Amino acid sequence: MANAFHYSIGKKFLQAISGAFLVIFMLLHATVNFFSVIDSLNGNFGLSDGLFAKGCEFMSLPIVTIMVPVLALGFIIHIGYGIYLTWYNIKARGGYKRYEVASKAAADSWSAKNMFVLGIVILGVLFFHLTHFWAHMQLEEFTGGIAADPYLLLTTTFGSVPVLVIYIVWFVAVWLHLSHGFWSMLQTIGWNNDIWLKRFKVLGILVASLIFLMFVSVAVNAYLQAHGIIG
Ligand code: HEM
Repeated sequence: MANAFHYSIGKKFLQAISGAFLVIFMLLHATVNFFSVIDSLNGNFGLSDGLFAKGCEFMSLPIVTIMVPVLALGFIIHIGYGIYLTWYNIKARGGYKRYEVASKAAADSWSAKNMFVLGIVILGVLFFHLTHFWAHMQLEEFTGGIAADPYLLLTTTFGSVPVLVIYIVWFVAVWLHLSHGFWSMLQTIGWNNDIWLKRFKVLGILVASLIFLMFVSVAVNAYLQAHGIIG
């Protein structure tokens, strides 16, 4: 099975690199969003010189917007290659199992087996984000319009309970995708030493949880602001 092992890991390289790129993007994005929670704590929520407003201004600088096509490409590669890998694995099942890794138990989690399904669920949050936020901010600016007030966008979007609930469910899917994806990606690029793999798993859970908590706290905070419960 040695050949199959190397083959399957090597095949995933593109998925790991694009995945790493998306993780970095998610961390940056979560940090800028989280500024809105800090603004709430400081009583600056909604102010034009609030930290979140400044973060959004920074995101509209040419140096950042030039990255938009690169980011889109990262998503396209990850989704396209994810579809290919899933199709390939289904076809090859029997030849080798979905995950030919050194420790079978290590790859046997629910998330490991459902990365594609989780990815499809994550597509929902991607679409939601593009239509509810990106279209009113960056796209407006690209097309010569004026970007919407970012705080108002947050409160009008997350002021609704169903939106808040579905947003949280989406980020549970992101958490599941990343709690497996993070260490899997490091293993794919060759860091598959037994001791380190255990540490990477813990680190993966921490990174996934940080991303989850930052995005979800922004939505909950916006809900509380929208209903005058805080602020
Ligand atoms: C927030 C966006 C996303 C991030 C941060 C992310 C991150 C990752 C990471 C780090 C991996 C591990 C790569 C490896 O095992 O070497 C991975 C695997 C995978 N991703 Fe994503 N991903 C995202 C969205 C998506 C989407 C939208 C899809 C598909 C619709 C998708 C499909 C997959 C699949 C199928 C795999 C597993 C490949 C395999 O092990 O067989 N991902 N992802």
